[in-house]
Amino acid sequence: MNKIWLEELSLEKYPVIFRGRRRGRKLRPSMASLLENDLQDLKIDSSDKTYIKNPFDLFPQTTASIWMEIGFGGGEHISWQAENNPTVGFIGCEPFLNGIASLLRDVQNKQLANIRILADDARPFLTRLPDNSIDRLFILFPDPWRKKRHENRRIIQKNILDQFYRLLKTGGEFRVATDDPVYLRWILLHLKDHPGFEWLARRPNDWRLRPADWPQTRYEKKALTQGRTPIFLRYQKM
Ligand SMILES: C[S@@+](CC[C@H](N)C(=O)[O-])C[C@H]1O[C@@H](n2cnc3c(N)ncnc32)[C@H](O)[C@@H]1O
Repeated sequence: MNKIWLEELSLEKYPVIFRGRRRGRKLRPSMASLLENDLQDLKIDSSDKTYIKNPFDLFPQTTASIWMEIGFGGGEHISWQAENNPTVGFIGCEPFLNGIASLLRDVQNKQLANIRILADDARPFLTRLPDNSIDRLFILFPDPWRKKRHENRRIIQKNILDQFYRLLKTGGEFRVATDDPVYLRWILLHLKDHPGFEWLARRPNDWRLRPADWPQTRYEKKALTQGRTPIFLRYQKM
């Protein structure tokens, strides 16, 4: 690890106050029971600050690569990916308990063995993972924090992109979607300014159309019904 990464790993440099919701409407007893019981087996302890030397240890022995989704919401995307990519180990990060309960229901219904859950803010956790350990990273419809004074709450920031760059393997992919024109511009500019990522789009349909291996999320569906246009961005770590 070179000097830049060591500096960026300093936790003090992170805007680590999570400003989103951790709870929504009261959970049905069956969903509360999933959080109470099933989460324990799949949980990555966010209070444990130790470095995870080998993230493959979190998963079954057959795991060939690791993908990560930050802010999985109701878990539609990560559970689809886990079902369709059984040799991939998935780390899902989401602090919203109602969303975690929905994912746990999917895990139970589909009998998925390849998902682990960090039920918390992903940002401090990034520093616990080794360089070049992740093959794919997804952030689908991150909270746009539209007001100018809230820009520093956005998950796309220079220091977070440095972490993504460090974690991704060379050739690994970062996928991000948004339906917010202001945040879209922010994402495009931050990634353009980052020397380590190449935008994979060659023609407009590459960002207008969701690829076949990218299922629709609850948030995207809502955006479409409310007349907003989702944009799908794919970047490669060079
Ligand atoms: C607008 S929702 C989108 C949810 C989902 N990706 C979808 O497309 O339906 C953004 C999600 O990101 C989660 N989130 C926000 N900041 C986060 C962070 N720092 N770490 C992990 N998740 C985060 C929120 O709790 C919320 O569920």
